[in-house]
Amino acid sequence: MQPIPTDLEHEVRDIDIIVSKGNEAGDITYANPIFWKLSGYTQGELLDKPHAIIRHPDMPSIIFKFLWDNLKAGKDVKAFVKNLSKDGGYYWVLAHVKVATNPDGSFRNYVSTRRKMSPHAREVIEPLYKRMREAEQSGGMEASLPILEEFLKERGGSLENFNEIMESINKGH
Ligand SMILES: Cc1cc2nc3c(=O)[nH]c(=O)nc-3n(C[C@H](O)[C@H](O)[C@H](O)COP(=O)(O)O)c2cc1C
Repeated sequence: MQPIPTDLEHEVRDIDIIVSKGNEAGDITYANPIFWKLSGYTQGELLDKPHAIIRHPDMPSIIFKFLWDNLKAGKDVKAFVKNLSKDGGYYWVLAHVKVATNPDGSFRNYVSTRRKMSPHAREVIEPLYKRMREAEQSGGMEASLPILEEFLKERGGSLENFNEIMESINKGH
């Protein structure tokens, strides 16, 4: 059962590096202690379960589509993510999700390394995601994609340099 979201925010500190790894389906195969602490779940509850268990309903679907399209193409993604904790609370991060390969080049796992989101980024991203989410409720991802593209264009970019734009927003630009 998914927790009912509340407005309780869990603090991500400057020093926190929140790591989890996933298999090809996105199921959690490993996570570090700060991941368990912020999510509020025990390893027994979440290991081998989909990462989508910590998906927050405020997250626009198009962000996850973009994530998976890129991962499947072997490219890494940096994206702001609001996650849902077991107690209904939330925490915001800038996630960097990469594909790890074995020495022979075959797929090993996906690795997400998450850091604190800056206050500036929160001010920029939260209203953007809200607009995208609202658009999705009536028009699906076809409706949220143009909003995302327009946002990137205003910053002189496109989906091609999404990662750099997200990183620069986190730095305060
Ligand atoms: C390594 C890795 C880490 C992920 N971390 C998160 C995460 O922290 N929060 C999240 O909502 N989705 C995360 N995802 C994406 C989920 O797999 C999923 O696509 C997303 O939650 C949307 O769920 P849905 O596709 O069922 O709608 C991660 C995926 C991978 C491969």
